[in-house]
Amino acid sequence: MNALEGKVAIVTGGASGIGRATALLFAAEGAKVVVADLDGDGAEATAARIGAAALAVRADVSSPDDCENVVRTAVERFGGLNVLFNNAGIIRRSTALDLGVEDWDRVMAVNVRSVFLMCKYAIPAMTGGGSIVNTGSGWGLKGGGNALSYCASKAAVVNMTRALAIDHAAAGIRVNSVNPGDTDTPMLRDEARQLGEDWAAFAADAADRPMGRAGTPEEIAQAVLFLASDASSYVTGSALVVDGGGLA
Ligand SMILES: NC(=O)c1ccc[n+]([C@@H]2O[C@H](COP(=O)([O-])OP(=O)(O)OC[C@H]3O[C@@H](n4cnc5c(N)ncnc54)[C@H](O)[C@@H]3O)[C@@H](O)[C@H]2O)c1
Repeated sequence: MNALEGKVAIVTGGASGIGRATALLFAAEGAKVVVADLDGDGAEATAARIGAAALAVRADVSSPDDCENVVRTAVERFGGLNVLFNNAGIIRRSTALDLGVEDWDRVMAVNVRSVFLMCKYAIPAMTGGGSIVNTGSGWGLKGGGNALSYCASKAAVVNMTRALAIDHAAAGIRVNSVNPGDTDTPMLRDEARQLGEDWAAFAADAADRPMGRAGTPEEIAQAVLFLASDASSYVTGSALVVDGGGLA
């Protein structure tokens, strides 16, 4: 029996990295998947790899209208909603001194406001209960250098997860965060670019943890699948760290 047989899932940020790997894994485990991303072509490409069990929706997760449309599309097309993976995110590698005010606002909108908006529209659609997984970060649980807005946004995601878990447990909805350490995705490479660092040196730094390497998107996806599926039926409000021992 597949872990998500008969379930309908939304994956935000599904065009790339962790979101794409998770959309593919969800589908392989039997789910119908709505792949939502600002990058409409990328979302289409992920959905095309899945086939008839997937649908791509171009959406800016900081927009209430777009979030409402993603949920409506899932329900109209696939008949309900069981799983929401709030994963779309951006990073700005800056201190308070060099971070633009617009960049602060954009990071908070894409990483935090999005979780509120998607939950606002998705929870009423989860009429038979459900599971929500929010992507936090190791930097939602500790601080990090040159990443003020990102650290603030991911700490908000971790604690919003707990608040949502409390509010919606009675409706049969579990809410957890997955907190990756450095994972080899386009975002990690973009960080090296933002900091003006050579990729090889940046990657070596990312590997500096007990397990001696960065994670893969597929490894994060396996943790998300656990939280999304009934295998985690008594887990809610938790912050699952998936980082090769980095935080330890
Ligand atoms: N890669 C890492 O090392 C790492 C570590 C910890 C946490 N994370 C988190 O994991 C999540 C996924 O990151 P990733 O590494 O796969 O990055 P990625 O850049 O490969 O993927 C992010 C996706 O989000 C989409 N996106 C960006 N803004 C959006 C918006 N406004 N609306 C809809 N989609 C939007 C992008 O188009 C992209 O497809 C993010 O929340 C990130 O903060 C990543």
